Amino acid sequence: MLTFHPVDGKSPERKKIAAIPGDGIGKEVIPQAITVIRASGAPVQLTEFDWGADRYLRDQTTVPPDGFTMLARDFDAILVGAFGDPRVKTNIHAKEILLGMRFKMDLYANVRPVRLLDAVLCPLKGVEPKDVDFVVLRENTEGVYTDAGGVFKQGTPDEIATQEDINTCKGVERIIRYAFEYCKTHSKLDGSPRASVLMCDKSNAMTHAGGLWQRVFKEVSAEYSGITSQHMYVDALCMQMVRDPRQFDVIVTNNMFGDIITDLAAGLQGGLGMAASGNIHPGRTSMFEPVHGSAPPIAGKNVANPIGAILTAAMMLRHLEFAREADKIEAAVLQAVRQKKTTEDIGGKLGTREAGQWVADAVSR
Ligand code: NAD
Ligand code: IPM
Ligand code: MN
Repeated sequence: MLTFHPVDGKSPERKKIAAIPGDGIGKEVIPQAITVIRASGAPVQLTEFDWGADRYLRDQTTVPPDGFTMLARDFDAILVGAFGDPRVKTNIHAKEILLGMRFKMDLYANVRPVRLLDAVLCPLKGVEPKDVDFVVLRENTEGVYTDAGGVFKQGTPDEIATQEDINTCKGVERIIRYAFEYCKTHSKLDGSPRASVLMCDKSNAMTHAGGLWQRVFKEVSAEYSGITSQHMYVDALCMQMVRDPRQFDVIVTNNMFGDIITDLAAGLQGGLGMAASGNIHPGRTSMFEPVHGSAPPIAGKNVANPIGAILTAAMMLRHLEFAREADKIEAAVLQAVRQKKTTEDIGGKLGTREAGQWVADAVSR
Protein backbone atom coordinates (compact mmCIF):
# COMPACT_ATOMS: atom_id res chain seq x y z
CA MET A 1 0.00 0.00 0.00
CA LEU A 2 1.41 3.37 -1.05
CA THR A 3 1.47 5.63 1.96
CA PHE A 4 3.45 8.61 0.78
CA HIS A 5 4.57 10.38 -2.36
CA PRO A 6 7.92 12.14 -2.59
CA VAL A 7 7.05 15.52 -4.05
CA ASP A 8 10.58 16.81 -4.58
CA GLY A 9 13.87 15.19 -5.54
CA LYS A 10 16.21 14.06 -2.77
CA SER A 11 18.78 16.60 -1.71
CA PRO A 12 20.56 16.17 1.60
CA GLU A 13 21.06 19.86 2.43
CA ARG A 14 17.36 20.68 2.13
CA LYS A 15 15.12 20.73 5.21
CA LYS A 16 12.64 17.88 5.07
CA ILE A 17 8.95 18.60 5.47
CA ALA A 18 6.16 16.05 5.84
CA ALA A 19 2.88 17.37 4.40
CA ILE A 20 -0.35 15.79 5.63
CA PRO A 21 -3.32 17.55 3.98
CA GLY A 22 -5.89 15.35 5.80
CA ASP A 23 -9.59 15.82 5.09
CA GLY A 24 -12.06 18.26 3.56
CA ILE A 25 -10.62 21.71 2.83
CA GLY A 26 -7.26 20.54 4.21
CA LYS A 27 -6.83 18.83 0.83
CA GLU A 28 -7.45 22.16 -0.94
CA VAL A 29 -5.52 24.64 1.21
CA ILE A 30 -2.34 22.59 1.78
CA PRO A 31 -1.57 22.30 -1.97
CA GLN A 32 -1.81 26.11 -2.12
CA ALA A 33 0.51 26.47 0.86
CA ILE A 34 2.95 24.13 -0.92
CA THR A 35 2.77 26.16 -4.15
CA VAL A 36 3.62 29.27 -2.14
CA ILE A 37 6.50 27.55 -0.30
CA ARG A 38 7.94 26.52 -3.68
CA ALA A 39 7.55 30.07 -5.04
CA SER A 40 9.46 31.40 -2.03
CA GLY A 41 12.52 29.39 -3.09
CA ALA A 42 13.01 27.98 0.42
CA PRO A 43 15.36 24.99 0.18
CA VAL A 44 12.97 22.30 1.37
CA GLN A 45 12.09 18.80 0.31
CA LEU A 46 8.41 17.90 0.70
CA THR A 47 6.93 14.44 1.16
CA GLU A 48 3.18 14.01 1.18
CA PHE A 49 1.32 11.50 3.38
CA ASP A 50 -2.23 10.31 2.85
CA TRP A 51 -3.23 9.98 6.52
CA GLY A 52 -6.86 10.96 6.97
CA ALA A 53 -10.44 9.78 6.55
CA ASP A 54 -10.10 8.30 3.02
CA ARG A 55 -7.17 6.15 4.09
CA TYR A 56 -8.95 5.14 7.30
CA LEU A 57 -12.09 4.14 5.42
CA ARG A 58 -10.01 2.21 2.91
CA ASP A 59 -7.77 0.15 5.20
CA GLN A 60 -8.60 1.18 8.82
CA THR A 61 -5.20 2.83 9.23
CA THR A 62 -5.14 6.06 11.22
CA VAL A 63 -1.41 6.33 11.97
CA PRO A 64 0.75 3.66 10.32
CA PRO A 65 2.96 1.62 12.70
CA ASP A 66 5.84 3.76 13.99
CA GLY A 67 4.36 6.76 12.14
CA PHE A 68 5.27 9.30 14.80
CA THR A 69 8.77 7.84 15.26
CA MET A 70 9.27 8.10 11.50
CA LEU A 71 8.10 11.75 11.44
CA ALA A 72 10.43 12.70 14.30
CA ARG A 73 13.36 10.81 12.78
CA ASP A 74 13.05 11.68 9.09
CA PHE A 75 11.57 15.20 9.04
CA ASP A 76 12.43 18.68 10.26
CA ALA A 77 8.81 19.87 10.35
CA ILE A 78 5.26 18.72 9.58
CA LEU A 79 2.65 20.73 7.68
CA VAL A 80 -0.91 19.60 8.38
CA GLY A 81 -4.31 20.56 6.88
CA ALA A 82 -7.25 19.40 8.97
CA PHE A 83 -9.01 16.22 10.08
CA GLY A 84 -12.71 15.52 10.41
CA ASP A 85 -15.08 13.77 8.03
CA PRO A 86 -18.81 13.17 8.42
CA ARG A 87 -18.31 9.54 7.29
CA VAL A 88 -16.17 8.84 10.37
CA LYS A 89 -18.68 9.46 13.14
CA THR A 90 -16.31 8.53 15.97
CA ASN A 91 -13.68 11.02 14.75
CA ILE A 92 -11.17 8.33 15.74
CA HIS A 93 -8.74 9.14 12.92
CA ALA A 94 -8.62 12.83 13.86
CA LYS A 95 -8.03 11.95 17.46
CA GLU A 96 -5.28 9.46 16.68
CA ILE A 97 -3.52 11.54 14.03
CA LEU A 98 -3.87 15.13 15.22
CA LEU A 99 -4.05 14.71 18.98
CA GLY A 100 -1.65 11.77 18.57
CA MET A 101 0.96 14.05 17.03
CA ARG A 102 0.48 16.72 19.70
CA PHE A 103 0.57 14.26 22.61
CA LYS A 104 2.94 11.50 21.50
CA MET A 105 5.48 13.88 19.96
CA ASP A 106 5.05 16.05 23.08
CA LEU A 107 4.42 19.26 21.10
CA TYR A 108 3.50 21.13 24.23
CA ALA A 109 3.30 24.71 23.00
CA ASN A 110 0.47 25.55 20.64
CA VAL A 111 1.45 28.97 19.33
CA ARG A 112 -1.47 30.88 17.80
CA PRO A 113 -0.62 34.42 16.65
CA VAL A 114 -3.54 36.84 16.34
CA ARG A 115 -2.93 39.62 13.81
CA LEU A 116 -5.32 41.82 11.91
CA LEU A 117 -3.98 42.42 8.40
CA ASP A 118 -6.54 45.03 7.32
CA ALA A 119 -9.17 47.02 9.24
CA VAL A 120 -11.93 45.87 6.86
CA LEU A 121 -11.48 42.28 8.04
CA CYS A 122 -12.29 43.03 11.68
CA PRO A 123 -15.94 42.92 12.79
CA LEU A 124 -15.20 45.50 15.52
CA LYS A 125 -15.74 49.22 14.89
CA GLY A 126 -12.68 51.45 14.68
CA VAL A 127 -10.15 48.65 15.17
CA GLU A 128 -7.00 48.84 13.05
CA PRO A 129 -4.15 46.39 12.39
CA LYS A 130 -1.98 48.01 15.08
CA ASP A 131 -4.73 47.22 17.63
CA VAL A 132 -4.75 43.44 17.10
CA ASP A 133 -1.29 41.95 17.53
CA PHE A 134 -1.17 39.35 20.26
CA VAL A 135 -0.42 35.65 20.62
CA VAL A 136 -2.15 32.83 22.46
CA LEU A 137 0.10 30.11 23.88
CA ARG A 138 -2.06 27.12 24.52
CA GLU A 139 -0.95 24.14 26.62
CA ASN A 140 -1.18 21.30 24.11
CA THR A 141 -0.61 17.97 25.86
CA GLU A 142 -2.85 17.92 28.95
CA GLY A 143 -6.13 19.23 30.33
CA VAL A 144 -9.47 17.67 29.41
CA TYR A 145 -7.94 16.61 26.07
CA THR A 146 -6.20 13.62 27.67
CA ASP A 147 -9.66 12.01 27.58
CA ALA A 148 -9.16 10.60 31.07
CA GLY A 149 -12.42 9.54 32.68
CA GLY A 150 -15.09 7.11 31.70
CA VAL A 151 -18.72 6.15 31.53
CA PHE A 152 -20.77 3.94 33.79
CA LYS A 153 -24.26 2.55 33.16
CA GLN A 154 -24.12 3.98 29.65
CA GLY A 155 -27.48 4.35 27.91
CA THR A 156 -29.48 4.13 31.14
CA PRO A 157 -31.08 6.97 33.11
CA ASP A 158 -28.36 6.41 35.72
CA GLU A 159 -25.51 7.01 33.25
CA ILE A 160 -22.42 8.68 34.67
CA ALA A 161 -19.80 10.36 32.46
CA THR A 162 -16.59 11.85 33.81
CA GLN A 163 -13.97 13.86 31.91
CA GLU A 164 -10.94 14.62 34.00
CA ASP A 165 -8.95 17.83 33.69
CA ILE A 166 -5.33 16.67 33.99
CA ASN A 167 -2.78 19.33 34.95
CA THR A 168 0.76 18.39 35.90
CA CYS A 169 3.21 20.68 37.61
CA LYS A 170 5.75 19.98 34.82
CA GLY A 171 3.20 20.62 32.06
CA VAL A 172 1.92 23.86 33.55
CA GLU A 173 5.39 25.13 34.32
CA ARG A 174 6.84 24.52 30.87
CA ILE A 175 4.05 26.31 28.99
CA ILE A 176 4.13 29.27 31.39
CA ARG A 177 7.90 29.47 31.06
CA TYR A 178 7.54 29.22 27.28
CA ALA A 179 5.20 32.24 27.43
CA PHE A 180 7.70 34.38 29.35
CA GLU A 181 10.56 33.31 27.07
CA TYR A 182 8.36 34.04 24.02
CA CYS A 183 7.64 37.50 25.44
CA LYS A 184 11.37 38.12 25.95
CA THR A 185 12.40 36.99 22.47
CA HIS A 186 9.60 38.30 20.23
CA SER A 187 8.59 41.80 19.30
CA LYS A 188 5.34 43.20 18.03
CA LEU A 189 4.81 43.88 14.34
CA ASP A 190 5.60 47.57 14.86
CA GLY A 191 9.00 46.59 16.31
CA SER A 192 8.18 47.44 19.93
CA PRO A 193 9.08 44.75 22.48
CA ARG A 194 6.47 42.43 23.90
CA ALA A 195 6.01 43.36 27.54
CA SER A 196 3.27 41.38 29.30
CA VAL A 197 2.11 37.82 29.88
CA LEU A 198 -1.50 37.27 30.85
CA MET A 199 -2.52 33.92 32.34
CA CYS A 200 -6.13 32.96 31.73
CA ASP A 201 -7.94 30.32 33.80
CA LYS A 202 -11.15 29.60 35.69
CA SER A 203 -9.59 29.26 39.12
CA ASN A 204 -12.64 30.77 40.81
CA ALA A 205 -14.61 27.61 40.00
CA MET A 206 -11.97 24.99 39.11
CA THR A 207 -9.98 25.39 42.29
CA HIS A 208 -7.67 22.35 42.11
CA ALA A 209 -6.33 22.92 38.60
CA GLY A 210 -6.66 26.69 38.99
CA GLY A 211 -4.66 26.59 42.21
CA LEU A 212 -1.76 24.88 40.43
CA TRP A 213 -1.83 27.33 37.51
CA GLN A 214 -2.00 30.32 39.90
CA ARG A 215 0.89 29.11 42.03
CA VAL A 216 3.17 28.19 39.12
CA PHE A 217 2.38 31.44 37.31
CA LYS A 218 3.36 33.43 40.41
CA GLU A 219 6.59 31.48 40.84
CA VAL A 220 7.70 31.68 37.21
CA SER A 221 6.72 35.34 36.76
CA ALA A 222 8.97 36.25 39.71
CA GLU A 223 11.95 35.15 37.57
CA TYR A 224 11.05 37.63 34.81
CA SER A 225 11.11 41.00 36.52
CA GLY A 226 11.07 43.02 33.27
CA ILE A 227 7.79 41.47 32.11
CA THR A 228 4.38 42.49 33.47
CA SER A 229 2.24 39.57 34.62
CA GLN A 230 -1.54 39.73 34.54
CA HIS A 231 -4.47 37.41 35.12
CA MET A 232 -8.02 37.14 33.81
CA TYR A 233 -10.75 34.58 34.19
CA VAL A 234 -11.56 33.07 30.82
CA ASP A 235 -15.14 34.37 30.73
CA ALA A 236 -14.01 37.94 31.39
CA LEU A 237 -11.23 37.56 28.85
CA CYS A 238 -13.73 36.64 26.11
CA MET A 239 -15.65 39.83 26.78
CA GLN A 240 -12.46 41.94 26.85
CA MET A 241 -11.21 40.41 23.60
CA VAL A 242 -14.31 41.69 21.86
CA ARG A 243 -14.51 44.98 23.74
CA ASP A 244 -10.86 46.02 23.41
CA PRO A 245 -8.30 43.66 21.83
CA ARG A 246 -5.59 46.36 22.16
CA GLN A 247 -4.89 45.33 25.75
CA PHE A 248 -3.50 41.87 24.88
CA ASP A 249 0.11 40.90 24.27
CA VAL A 250 1.02 37.30 25.25
CA ILE A 251 -1.79 35.11 26.63
CA VAL A 252 -1.05 31.71 28.19
CA THR A 253 -3.78 29.23 29.02
CA ASN A 254 -4.78 25.59 29.20
CA ASN A 255 -5.70 23.29 26.33
CA MET A 256 -9.45 23.79 26.19
CA PHE A 257 -9.60 27.50 26.95
CA GLY A 258 -6.86 27.99 24.35
CA ASP A 259 -8.94 26.14 21.77
CA ILE A 260 -12.02 28.25 22.43
CA ILE A 261 -10.42 31.68 22.68
CA THR A 262 -8.42 31.15 19.47
CA ASP A 263 -11.60 30.65 17.43
CA LEU A 264 -12.89 33.88 18.97
CA ALA A 265 -9.56 35.52 18.15
CA ALA A 266 -9.80 34.19 14.58
CA GLY A 267 -13.02 36.19 14.35
CA LEU A 268 -11.03 39.37 15.05
CA GLN A 269 -8.70 38.55 12.12
CA GLY A 270 -11.42 38.03 9.54
CA GLY A 271 -12.50 34.49 10.33
CA LEU A 272 -11.12 30.99 10.62
CA GLY A 273 -9.67 31.15 7.12
CA MET A 274 -7.03 33.65 8.34
CA ALA A 275 -5.58 32.02 11.46
CA ALA A 276 -2.24 30.17 11.64
CA SER A 277 -0.70 27.96 14.31
CA GLY A 278 2.34 25.96 15.31
CA ASN A 279 2.56 22.97 17.66
CA ILE A 280 6.05 23.21 19.06
CA HIS A 281 8.51 21.40 21.27
CA PRO A 282 11.74 23.39 21.07
CA GLY A 283 14.49 21.35 19.46
CA ARG A 284 12.17 18.61 18.18
CA THR A 285 10.27 18.04 14.93
CA SER A 286 7.28 20.38 15.29
CA MET A 287 3.93 20.51 13.50
CA PHE A 288 2.22 23.45 11.83
CA GLU A 289 -1.50 23.68 10.93
CA PRO A 290 -4.09 26.34 10.27
CA VAL A 291 -6.51 26.90 13.18
CA HIS A 292 -9.56 25.97 11.11
CA GLY A 293 -11.02 22.51 10.62
CA SER A 294 -12.00 20.48 7.56
CA ALA A 295 -15.19 22.54 6.96
CA PRO A 296 -17.18 19.70 5.29
CA PRO A 297 -19.98 21.92 3.92
CA ILE A 298 -17.58 23.97 1.78
CA ALA A 299 -15.08 21.19 0.96
CA GLY A 300 -14.37 20.43 -2.69
CA LYS A 301 -15.94 23.68 -3.93
CA ASN A 302 -12.76 25.72 -4.40
CA VAL A 303 -14.04 28.38 -1.97
CA ALA A 304 -11.96 27.77 1.16
CA ASN A 305 -9.62 30.58 2.14
CA PRO A 306 -6.00 29.33 1.81
CA ILE A 307 -4.46 32.24 3.77
CA GLY A 308 -4.52 30.49 7.17
CA ALA A 309 -2.59 27.58 5.62
CA ILE A 310 -0.22 29.91 3.75
CA LEU A 311 0.56 31.94 6.89
CA THR A 312 1.06 28.64 8.69
CA ALA A 313 3.61 27.66 6.03
CA ALA A 314 5.38 31.01 6.62
CA MET A 315 5.41 30.32 10.35
CA MET A 316 6.94 26.89 9.68
CA LEU A 317 9.63 28.38 7.41
CA ARG A 318 10.48 30.98 10.08
CA HIS A 319 10.78 28.14 12.61
CA LEU A 320 13.19 26.39 10.20
CA GLU A 321 15.19 29.65 10.07
CA PHE A 322 14.12 30.66 6.58
CA ALA A 323 13.16 34.15 7.77
CA ARG A 324 13.65 35.82 4.38
CA GLU A 325 11.26 33.41 2.66
CA ALA A 326 8.74 33.74 5.50
CA ASP A 327 8.92 37.55 5.23
CA LYS A 328 8.28 37.36 1.49
CA ILE A 329 5.21 35.17 1.98
CA GLU A 330 3.75 37.36 4.71
CA ALA A 331 4.28 40.47 2.57
CA ALA A 332 2.55 38.79 -0.39
CA VAL A 333 -0.43 37.80 1.77
CA LEU A 334 -0.73 41.38 2.99
CA GLN A 335 -0.71 42.58 -0.61
CA ALA A 336 -3.41 40.05 -1.56
CA VAL A 337 -5.61 41.18 1.32
CA ARG A 338 -5.15 44.89 0.54
CA GLN A 339 -5.90 44.33 -3.16
CA LYS A 340 -8.79 41.95 -2.39
CA LYS A 341 -7.17 39.16 -4.39
CA THR A 342 -8.78 36.74 -1.97
CA THR A 343 -11.62 34.28 -1.47
CA GLU A 344 -15.19 35.41 -0.85
CA ASP A 345 -15.22 34.88 2.94
CA ILE A 346 -12.98 37.94 3.26
CA GLY A 347 -14.47 40.00 0.48
CA GLY A 348 -12.64 38.87 -2.69
CA LYS A 349 -13.87 37.05 -5.75
CA LEU A 350 -11.20 34.37 -6.22
CA GLY A 351 -11.38 30.63 -5.70
CA THR A 352 -9.01 28.73 -3.38
CA ARG A 353 -6.62 27.82 -6.21
CA GLU A 354 -6.64 31.29 -7.77
CA ALA A 355 -6.10 33.02 -4.41
CA GLY A 356 -3.20 30.67 -3.62
CA GLN A 357 -1.69 31.21 -7.07
CA TRP A 358 -1.99 35.00 -6.69
CA VAL A 359 0.06 34.85 -3.47
CA ALA A 360 2.59 32.50 -5.11
CA ASP A 361 2.96 34.89 -8.08
CA ALA A 362 3.39 37.86 -5.72
CA VAL A 363 6.08 35.92 -3.83
CA SER A 364 7.95 35.21 -7.09
CA ARG A 365 7.80 38.81 -8.33
P1 NAD B 1 -14.34 24.49 10.85
O1 NAD B 1 -13.15 25.30 11.22
O2 NAD B 1 -14.09 23.38 9.90
O3 NAD B 1 -15.46 25.44 10.25
C1 NAD B 1 -16.09 26.46 11.04
C2 NAD B 1 -16.66 27.54 10.11
O4 NAD B 1 -15.59 28.28 9.52
C3 NAD B 1 -17.48 27.00 8.95
O5 NAD B 1 -18.50 27.93 8.67
C4 NAD B 1 -16.47 26.95 7.80
O6 NAD B 1 -17.08 27.02 6.54
C5 NAD B 1 -15.62 28.18 8.10
N1 NAD B 1 -14.24 27.99 7.64
C6 NAD B 1 -13.29 27.24 8.22
N2 NAD B 1 -12.16 27.31 7.54
C7 NAD B 1 -12.37 28.12 6.50
C8 NAD B 1 -11.58 28.58 5.41
N3 NAD B 1 -10.30 28.20 5.26
N4 NAD B 1 -12.15 29.40 4.50
C9 NAD B 1 -13.42 29.79 4.62
N5 NAD B 1 -14.22 29.40 5.62
C10 NAD B 1 -13.70 28.57 6.55
O7 NAD B 1 -14.94 23.92 12.22
P2 NAD B 1 -16.18 22.92 12.48
O8 NAD B 1 -17.25 23.14 11.45
O9 NAD B 1 -16.50 23.05 13.91
O10 NAD B 1 -15.54 21.48 12.26
C11 NAD B 1 -15.57 20.73 11.05
C12 NAD B 1 -14.68 19.50 11.22
O11 NAD B 1 -13.31 19.90 11.36
C13 NAD B 1 -15.00 18.68 12.47
O12 NAD B 1 -14.81 17.32 12.15
C14 NAD B 1 -13.97 19.14 13.47
O13 NAD B 1 -13.69 18.20 14.48
C15 NAD B 1 -12.78 19.35 12.56
N6 NAD B 1 -11.75 20.27 13.06
C16 NAD B 1 -10.47 19.88 12.81
C17 NAD B 1 -9.43 20.73 13.14
C18 NAD B 1 -8.05 20.30 12.85
O14 NAD B 1 -7.83 19.25 12.25
N7 NAD B 1 -7.04 21.06 13.22
C19 NAD B 1 -9.71 21.98 13.70
C20 NAD B 1 -11.04 22.34 13.93
C21 NAD B 1 -12.06 21.48 13.60
C1 IPM C 1 -8.05 22.86 16.93
C2 IPM C 1 -9.20 21.87 16.82
C3 IPM C 1 -8.89 20.59 17.60
C4 IPM C 1 -8.71 20.99 19.04
C5 IPM C 1 -9.95 19.49 17.46
C6 IPM C 1 -10.13 19.07 16.02
C7 IPM C 1 -9.65 18.28 18.30
O1 IPM C 1 -10.38 22.46 17.24
O2 IPM C 1 -6.93 22.50 16.53
O3 IPM C 1 -8.26 23.98 17.37
O4 IPM C 1 -9.70 21.10 19.79
O5 IPM C 1 -7.58 21.20 19.44
MN1 MN D 1 -10.21 24.58 17.61
